[in-house]
Amino acid sequence: MSMTLQDCATVREGFPRPFPNTPTNVLEQFSLRGKVVVITGAADGIGYAVAEAMAEAGADIAMWYNSNDVAVAKAQSLSQEHNVKATAYKVDVSDPDTVQRRIQEVVTDFGKLDVFIANAGMAISKPLLQQTLEEYRKQMSVNGNVDGVLYCAKHAGDIFQRQGFGNLIITSSMSAQIVNVPVDQPVYNASKAFITHFGKSLAREWREFARVNIVSPGFFDTKMGASTETVQEAYRMTVLGRQGHTKEIKGLYLYLASDASTYMTGSDVIIDGGYVLP
Ligand SMILES: NC(=O)c1ccc[n+]([C@@H]2O[C@H](COP(=O)([O-])OP(=O)(O)OC[C@H]3O[C@@H](n4cnc5c(N)ncnc54)[C@H](OP(=O)(O)O)[C@@H]3O)[C@@H](O)[C@H]2O)c1
Repeated sequence: MSMTLQDCATVREGFPRPFPNTPTNVLEQFSLRGKVVVITGAADGIGYAVAEAMAEAGADIAMWYNSNDVAVAKAQSLSQEHNVKATAYKVDVSDPDTVQRRIQEVVTDFGKLDVFIANAGMAISKPLLQQTLEEYRKQMSVNGNVDGVLYCAKHAGDIFQRQGFGNLIITSSMSAQIVNVPVDQPVYNASKAFITHFGKSLAREWREFARVNIVSPGFFDTKMGASTETVQEAYRMTVLGRQGHTKEIKGLYLYLASDASTYMTGSDVIIDGGYVLP
């Protein structure tokens, strides 16, 4: 740490870094033409909306799915509709060898990797005292919340470092920051807190070659959104009085994936209709 004004004034070699070659026109900044984007959990819900956003903005996309092979047909129709390359890959993100192999495959198929969106996740929403250790392990490791994000980050990061560029976006949750109500789900909340802080820490670690940002959704109307038992409370707690529609999250991911956000790294953006305000 600099202790005196004189210390602070020391000129450090290589600083300031040059500005990036970002277009000045804002709409050009948002174009993803020529970029390659991987999205995990891309068959449905938030991940599919994000895949759609990327294709609409011109990116070539690799849509990763686990069990829902509707991703294959959806990739074909996005490709035809938006004149981009779109391919579906079956990947269980809790298997590190498959993750590593698939990332390499994407680079072989597409030539490079510009953006990796680690979006897959799952929840077994229960109080700790009713949760088995197997369910705990499944959330932390087997099914993607912690280990899955880490495996994707590790192997995508290797590619980013080798290329000298890259962009990682992690889907976390507002539950990383608040103790969500009315369901007690400490393990899910804590798994999301892990990946939020992990992402911020990577933003520093990868500062020479890649950006890393986090998206923290509130309730969105998907399979992982509010259940029938909790939905009334979600409406009451959310300032806007409803869940989000997945089309309302597309712009945020596009912003983070694009050159419109070249000065943004290590940020955690909450998109929750005001849920965390009160
Ligand atoms: N909806 C909300 O209210 C909300 C709020 C905060 C955060 N989130 C987060 O948003 C992300 C997307 O969720 P969503 O709401 O869009 O629900 P969703 O449609 O159920 O999406 C979850 C996705 O995760 C994938 N997945 C689960 N386990 C996997 C594994 N082992 N390997 C690979 N993929 C796996 C699923 O793939 P398959 O279907 O192919 O198996 C599915 O596409 C999750 O990380 C979730 O925690 C959602």
